[in-house]
Amino acid sequence: MAAAEHDIAPPHAPAERDPAFGVYIHWPFCRSKCPYCDFNSHVRHGGVDQPRFVRAFTAEIAATAARTADRTVSTIFFGGGTPSLMEPATVAAVLDAVAKHWRVADDVEVTLEANPTSVEAERFAGYRAGGVNRVSLGVQALDDAALSALGRTHTAREALDAVGIARRIFERYSFDLIYARPGQTPAAWRAELKKAISESAEHLSLYQLTIEPETPFASLRAAGKLAVPDADDARVLFDITREVCAAAGLPAYEISNHARPGAECRHNLVYWRYREYAGIGPGAHGRLDIDGTHRATATEKRPEAWLARVESQGHGLVTDEPLSRVEVADEFLLMGLRLTEGIDLERFSTLAGVPLAFEKIADLARHDLIETTAAGRLRVTPAGFPILDAIVADLAA
Ligand SMILES: C[S@@+](CC[C@H](N)C(=O)[O-])C[C@H]1O[C@@H](n2cnc3c(N)ncnc32)[C@H](O)[C@@H]1O
Ligand code: SF4
Repeated sequence: MAAAEHDIAPPHAPAERDPAFGVYIHWPFCRSKCPYCDFNSHVRHGGVDQPRFVRAFTAEIAATAARTADRTVSTIFFGGGTPSLMEPATVAAVLDAVAKHWRVADDVEVTLEANPTSVEAERFAGYRAGGVNRVSLGVQALDDAALSALGRTHTAREALDAVGIARRIFERYSFDLIYARPGQTPAAWRAELKKAISESAEHLSLYQLTIEPETPFASLRAAGKLAVPDADDARVLFDITREVCAAAGLPAYEISNHARPGAECRHNLVYWRYREYAGIGPGAHGRLDIDGTHRATATEKRPEAWLARVESQGHGLVTDEPLSRVEVADEFLLMGLRLTEGIDLERFSTLAGVPLAFEKIADLARHDLIETTAAGRLRVTPAGFPILDAIVADLAA
């Protein structure tokens, strides 16, 4: 790519600005820490002062909205951590603060991630009354032995009961499963997935188990005590996932996400389509067009340090930097090529300041790793998805 490293990227041109604007709220606490997880999540046995967090979230929302005043919020996402440990009153107060400081679209999508324990499921009605209209449940497996091996504290029965409650209370719900687990066979995954689809309405997130550095799973694997499927076996499971979901009317719209057409998670599409979003709470990231620049923001990760920062300076930002054209172009590729719809090449040219190199596209296409759609968009083929990072690195180089 010919764009200069320090050439600062301009904001989206008004004519191509998508009205989508997402607000991400991070709740950084869990009941226990799962051995595979490297999310910003912490266990606090002494409890959490939720009214204090409400005050801090409200302050950070006000400070962020002051810099992005003309936006209309189209999606809000409570992620974690375990947001279903938030009191319904806490969630409602945060939503009130969003509505006080920004315009909110009439059809706003408000998602909350939940762990499927019965205690938390009982809160669903309270979340709905407070304004949440979609839940995403961390089911992870429909097999008790696998749940226990993943360090989860719920059973498959409890998970399905929570899915049933979600179905009764919310028009829209999704759940997550993790596959390519130790010892998982293709036949077992196919059966588990079919069972999951019979319980799901419109959306399923199906993640391949990743062994993240510095997690207990990474230590176990290094000690030879955890054998996960190799790349070839994982590829077989990935292909089964796409095939079974497509046959059931839930085609993949992103590497790990499957939905009935029209039922995609609009909030996550904001990230993958490289639109603007605000990150609120400990360790939240944002991408905002401000002061003629496309900016990357990030807040302090440690919950108590974030609280202290917000209480002293009104926000928890530790990063607030303009991105260069090269950085913007790389991020656009990395996000957009996860999607089945692929990327708009003209938008790439606008963001990068130069078009994508034709020879690179032709070379990857010759190897059946990328293709151009009838609408002229560029997308990764099913054969390319398992090596997406390498494809992006090649295109971005
Ligand atoms: C922030 S977590 C979800 C919320 C909730 N705390 C839970 O665990 O149910 C988002 C999702 O990422 C997935 N996930 C987390 N760590 C993973 C890993 N190492 N490999 C694959 N999927 C992972 C899980 O499916 C999880 O539901
Ligand atoms: S997977 Fe979910 S519940 Fe487990 S530690 Fe991570 S965020 Fe918490």
